[in-house]
Amino acid sequence: MSSTEQYLIQERPYYRATADEVELFEAAYAARMPVMLKGPTGCGKTRFVEYMAWKLKRPLITVACNEDMTASDLVGRFLLDASGTRWQDGPLTLAARIGAICYLDEVVEARQDTTVVIHPLTDHRRTLPLDKKGELVHAHPDFQLVISYNPGYQNLLKDLKQSTKQRFGALDFGYPETAVEVDVVSHETGIDPKIAEKLVQIAHRARNLKGHGLDEGISTRLLVYAGHLIAKGIEPRAACMMTLVRPLTDDPDMRDTLDAAVATFF
Ligand SMILES: Nc1ncnc2c1ncn2[C@@H]1O[C@H](COP(=O)(O)OP(=O)(O)OP(=O)(O)O)[C@@H](O)[C@H]1O
Ligand SMILES: [Mg+2]
Repeated sequence: MSSTEQYLIQERPYYRATADEVELFEAAYAARMPVMLKGPTGCGKTRFVEYMAWKLKRPLITVACNEDMTASDLVGRFLLDASGTRWQDGPLTLAARIGAICYLDEVVEARQDTTVVIHPLTDHRRTLPLDKKGELVHAHPDFQLVISYNPGYQNLLKDLKQSTKQRFGALDFGYPETAVEVDVVSHETGIDPKIAEKLVQIAHRARNLKGHGLDEGISTRLLVYAGHLIAKGIEPRAACMMTLVRPLTDDPDMRDTLDAAVATFF
């Protein structure tokens, strides 16, 4: 299997649009504009990029960024093997060569010296210098860079530089409106929409507590988890405790508050 085929998404991912993000992304892709997806954890960013890669029929190469990641982890390095040294492309280089959509997840986690390697790829140059190898890669015409960014977690010390941010068009993601989120939860888990609606209502209560004792509200992802347990026959109160309350907080008072919210629905 060629690299390109290996990274193609075969089956249509289930994605419910929440606004005009699909049209905007398509237009951005047509202009080969780099795109930044902003929003809290578990609200559909990864699912969206998978859906867009499928729709645009482009391979998708995803890299989960972390603070230990170096520029070599993105662009590549020389490896030693029996026959001597051999260059191995990193995921960013591979994506640039084959014309993939490269998705750098949680890019703010990477150190700034890592982040700057994307600069020449994200302006008119569309090139990637492999300094160690002495090669300048010209990005394939179909290549596009997409990054995700959770504006919530980062503190002032950990933010993208303006010179990085201003290389991207940005789409804001949030939790979907009630009817859409109910659809997502029941579609993903097979539970009755009436039960899904109760889960969404619980999430709304918790989301109002963000900044008042909770760092983050209950994500769509956690609602899907709750739905999976309920679909397996777990009693809803226990399912909600495991998936909507305990992961969020260790504070006993906050747990009581959330548990009370669950109890008003189940
Ligand atoms: N609009 C949507 N359409 C379909 N499924 C959705 C949608 N929004 C959220 N989901 C569901 O929520 C789950 C979590 O979404 P996803 O993994 O895309 O979150 P994310 O925004 O990438 O989170 P993180 O920042 O933690 O990576 C998905 O697996 C999917 O079940
Ligand atoms: Mg994600």
